[in-house]
Amino acid sequence: MLARILPYMRCPRCAAERLERCPDGLSCPACGSAFASQDGILDMIGEDPGEVITPFQRLMQSRAVVSVYESPWRHLGYFVASSRSFSREMETVLSLAGERGDGPALDLACGPGVFTRPLARRSRGIVIGLDLSRPMLRQAARRIAEDGIPNIQLIRASAFALPFADGVFSHVNCCGALHLFDRPEKALAEIARVTRAAGGFSVQTTIRPERSAGFAYILERFIRFGFFDEAELRLLIRSHGFSIERDERHRISFTFLARRLSPDGHSPV
Ligand SMILES: C[S@@+](CC[C@H](N)C(=O)[O-])C[C@H]1O[C@@H](n2cnc3c(N)ncnc32)[C@H](O)[C@@H]1O
Ligand SMILES: [Zn+2]
Repeated sequence: MLARILPYMRCPRCAAERLERCPDGLSCPACGSAFASQDGILDMIGEDPGEVITPFQRLMQSRAVVSVYESPWRHLGYFVASSRSFSREMETVLSLAGERGDGPALDLACGPGVFTRPLARRSRGIVIGLDLSRPMLRQAARRIAEDGIPNIQLIRASAFALPFADGVFSHVNCCGALHLFDRPEKALAEIARVTRAAGGFSVQTTIRPERSAGFAYILERFIRFGFFDEAELRLLIRSHGFSIERDERHRISFTFLARRLSPDGHSPV
């Protein structure tokens, strides 16, 4: 699998575009960095993530939360936010990502692979599941092995320094995470960089509630669970070179498909 992803990779430390296979994983001839691969997870961060670990991210790295995340945490959390079932949301996201063909896809902030596995089952193309949390990725690796899915590669890396060359993905999916990122604009700039022109970008995120603003404030202030303003988010997506094609709003949950514009800002035909 590492040989298959090699053409898409670039060094997250020095941005060199040619990585090489080495006995333990991948290495960068330009800066000498080595990235080990173990139990199906290619670790491109190592011991020092160099990231702000927010209180919510700490939860995402705790074994207790990881063990209940896929069920019931994700289902209940989504139901509270949207008043509809998570299985309906899964269908929505898969239909938004449905026209991506067999090109390489990225499931950014994949967690335990809730969306990575169904995305991979629906295509012969490779799906890269990327996350910062080791426990989440280990859980993803277990589930992928149990299900025997052959076309997924898991990578530990940061959304703010994606280890991929420019314009390699025909689709990027990012669910349940954009509002959690410490620097969403930096993540969007990286997503735009790695998505090819006319490529798709499917997202499920949260919008600040009009009522219960006090509760939202507590979540944002104390555990850094964030919310977007819908109009501002639309502008942010556009300013990063995407055009929203389809969207669905269910209470505070917002799900959309955006298309990467060509570099001159026009919709590719
Ligand atoms: C709520 S989970 C979403 C998991 C899955 N995509 C889903 O929809 O259920 C958020 C994930 O974002 C990951 N994450 C947070 N900050 C990140 C960053 N800077 N880079 C990569 N992953 C990050 C967390 O580790 C966690 O697994
Ligand atoms: Zn390097």
